[in-house]
Amino acid sequence: MHTNYNLPENIIEILNTNQRENDDTYQELIRQGGYVPPHMDLLIDAISALSMGKNVLLKGPTGAGKTKFAETLSNLFHQPMFSVNCSVDLDAESLMGFKTLTYEADKQQIEFVPGPVTSAMNGGTFLYIDEINMAKPETLPLINGVLDYRRTITNPFTNEIITAKDGFNVIAAINEGYVGTVPLNEALKNRFIVIDVPYIEGEQLKELIQTNTRLTNKSTIDLFVTLSSDLIRAVSQGKLSEDAASIRALLDACDLSVIIPPKRAILRSIVDKLEEGREREFVKNLADTLF
Ligand SMILES: Nc1ncnc2c1ncn2[C@@H]1O[C@H](COP(=O)(O)OP(=O)(O)O)[C@@H](O)[C@H]1O
Ligand SMILES: [Mg+2]
Repeated sequence: MHTNYNLPENIIEILNTNQRENDDTYQELIRQGGYVPPHMDLLIDAISALSMGKNVLLKGPTGAGKTKFAETLSNLFHQPMFSVNCSVDLDAESLMGFKTLTYEADKQQIEFVPGPVTSAMNGGTFLYIDEINMAKPETLPLINGVLDYRRTITNPFTNEIITAKDGFNVIAAINEGYVGTVPLNEALKNRFIVIDVPYIEGEQLKELIQTNTRLTNKSTIDLFVTLSSDLIRAVSQGKLSEDAASIRALLDACDLSVIIPPKRAILRSIVDKLEEGREREFVKNLADTLF
C-alpha cells in the first residue's frame, strides 16, 4: 500500500497501527493520494504528528499541493476527511450544522443537520480546514475549541457537549502572505505543528507533469520545468506575485500545450491571471526565451 513512498519502517508501522478499521462509515470521504513531497520529511513529520493526535498546519503558497497533501494523509491513514473552507463566508452554522423543520406523519419536528465539525468529531475522522487564516474573528473561538487538546466543544445550536471520538484530527492549511489573508493569530498558531509546503521542482516536477498531464514530449516537459523554476525564483525576488508560480497553473499550461502552442498555453494559464502589465510582460518574455 505504501510502496510508492519509500517510508521508513517505523513510519509504516505507525500507519499500520493507526489506520482506521474498515467500518464502512464515510468510505466516500477517504481521499485519493498522489501528493509528491519535495522531501520525505514532510510526510514523515505529518504522519508522526497526526498519529499522536496533534493538529497539523500546512503552510505554503497557492498551488503548492497543500490540499493534495491533506488528501494523501487521509488516504494513508484510511481516514475519511470532512472539509471546511474558511474563505466562503464561514459562520458557526457552516461549521457546526443547523436546525431545520421536518415533517413526520404530518407532525412538525425540529431536526439538527450536522455540519463538518460535528460530523468529524462524532465520527472520529479527519477534518480539513482550508485557508484557516481567513476565518472571521467571531468564528475563531469555535475553531480554537475544536483544536484544543481537550477536543470538547459545546454546540451553540443544541447546547450539546461534543467530545471528539478517537481518530479525530485536524489538518489545516494557510496561504501566508497571500493577498487578502491576515497573518494567523498566535493563539491559533500555537495549537499546531507547522509544516512548510514549498513548490516541487526539478526531477520531481518532471515526474508530476508526466503522470498528471497529457504532455509527453520530453523536451517540452523540460522547458516547462525550467519555466517553473524561473517563475519560482522571480516570485521569491518579489518580481512577480505568488500566483505566477502556482503548480496548478503550470500543469494547466502543460495540458493545453498538447493542442495549442506552448506560448499561448502559458498566456491562458499563467500570464492573463496576473494583475499588473509589468508582471505579464515579464512572464511573456520568459516564455519567449524558452519556447
Ligand atoms: N507536490 C505536489 N504533488 C502532487 N500534486 C501537486 C503538487 N504540487 C501541486 N500539485 C498539483 O497542483 C494542483 C494544486 O494543488 P493543491 O493541493 O490544490 O494546492 P494548494 O492547496 O496548495 O493551493 C493539484 O492539481 C495538485 O495535484
Ligand atoms: Mg488548496
